Amino acid sequence: MTRADNFAKLKSLAEQPVSIRDLFDTEPDRLSRFVMREGPLRADFSKQAMSQDALDALLSFAATCDLEEWRAKLFAGETVNTSENRAVLHMALRGVGGSDAVKAEVADMREHMASFADKIRREGTFKAIVHIGIGGSDLGPRLVADAFQASADMALDLRFAENIDGASIQDALVGLDPATTLVVVVSKSFTTQETRMNAEAARTWLTQALGETAGDNFIAVTANRDGALDFNIPPGQIFDFWDWVGGRYSVWSAVGLSLQIAFGPDIFAEFLNGAAAMDRHFRDQPLQDNLPVMMALTGIWNRNGLGYSSLAVIPYARRIRKLAAFLQQLEMESNGKRITREGTEAGLTCPIIWGDEGTNGQHAFFQWLHQGPSEGAYGGAPVDFIAVLKDHSARPDHHAALLANCFAQSEALMVGKDEDAVRAELEPRPDAQAIIPQKAFPGNRPSTTITLDELSPFALGHLIALYEHKVFVQGVIWNVNSFDQWGVQLGKVLATTILTEMQAGQTGNHDPSTAALMGLVNT
Ligand code: F6P
Repeated sequence: MTRADNFAKLKSLAEQPVSIRDLFDTEPDRLSRFVMREGPLRADFSKQAMSQDALDALLSFAATCDLEEWRAKLFAGETVNTSENRAVLHMALRGVGGSDAVKAEVADMREHMASFADKIRREGTFKAIVHIGIGGSDLGPRLVADAFQASADMALDLRFAENIDGASIQDALVGLDPATTLVVVVSKSFTTQETRMNAEAARTWLTQALGETAGDNFIAVTANRDGALDFNIPPGQIFDFWDWVGGRYSVWSAVGLSLQIAFGPDIFAEFLNGAAAMDRHFRDQPLQDNLPVMMALTGIWNRNGLGYSSLAVIPYARRIRKLAAFLQQLEMESNGKRITREGTEAGLTCPIIWGDEGTNGQHAFFQWLHQGPSEGAYGGAPVDFIAVLKDHSARPDHHAALLANCFAQSEALMVGKDEDAVRAELEPRPDAQAIIPQKAFPGNRPSTTITLDELSPFALGHLIALYEHKVFVQGVIWNVNSFDQWGVQLGKVLATTILTEMQAGQTGNHDPSTAALMGLVNT
């Protein structure tokens, strides 16, 4: 069967409506098939609107896409990023896969990072780190920095500056003493406009206070050593990484240096170990027992079968509240593509990823999730709920309430509340006919619930690697290259042109709307 035939088969299977609740009766072993555990992570897919027959069809579809072969190529370091002619080896950063040469380079890097972090922590000269970077050079470290606070106190004040908006670097530097501030500039390409402008601003701030010695407080992390040298960063203060590490997969590399300094090398090593355990699971388990594969197939079912256009990610854990922002880049920059590896139309690929922390979202957009207009087969959006079982906040009463809310939401989305139940509760009133449907919940709205035993660095590494491999599997099935990002280029080029023209007081050769906007600005 061709890919198109497989997608057509999924669509026709999805046209037969299912009741998720009924699936628990008709499929008595549903929990054992749809719940998977690996280390500290348990994923419950049983509240998806997906029958075991649908899952079987998805598994055969995956096999016809040569998923196992693609997986083997990935771990063997073959050129899976074909448009950029690169291997994809972020797993090697956590010790899984890669040639002997790659392993040796990674070991050197890890040693360099750990000894540098140790030295900074021991000497105690620095009280603050300002981490400058954007996209993959920011989102991972920012998410992880919050999460690590469940395990350890930060030894230094760790701040981030990413946006080109001057408020970003201004806020990051406010109140800091240049003499005790380490600036870590992170950019794979070392050409990113936002990062270079923020780095310039930080260097001016350091130099004005410290003069010649300002360079001692300036570190670069990059795959473009020459770019960093041109930026006058001393060679001994440059940490390298490689073109086989994609920006959105780079938190495991020296991009995580600020985290190592702030939290210590041991915590960072545990984070890598957690990801490595998920790598081995993904590499070694057959497709039907494979967590990232199951997660990817669920997403394919919701997108290509049931026709959902988005996925909500709701962590019921404040310390990973930035997960949706992180996954927006990981998923949408990887698979937000409409053209296949062969240059043909790909059809429906990556859904919109969105979300916020629970319970906050319940008081904002959950109304739409429960009762919003028809979208996909059953309305609302599929949700990934993520909860942490063991609390670190020393407030067990809050934690029990948090978990209760999480579990209640997935149950409510599935069970709903029919009009008879509303009618039975309603006091007699003349407009009952109009009110009853407004108060009813259609239910049958799909979700996955992922629980972590605790928010340890190991479990966090596990969780992030799970999503990374899910993205890979979906890229194989949609037949897109998950590791390039051509779609970000056009706007970057135009921004440079527009800035030059505005600085010259010109409006250049633009459409009337853009020219009028440029005319509003006095540079
Ligand atoms: O513009 C998109 C992007 O290239 C991302 O892929 C990347 O993570 C981000 O910009 C930052 O790039 P760099 O690390 O090269 O500064």
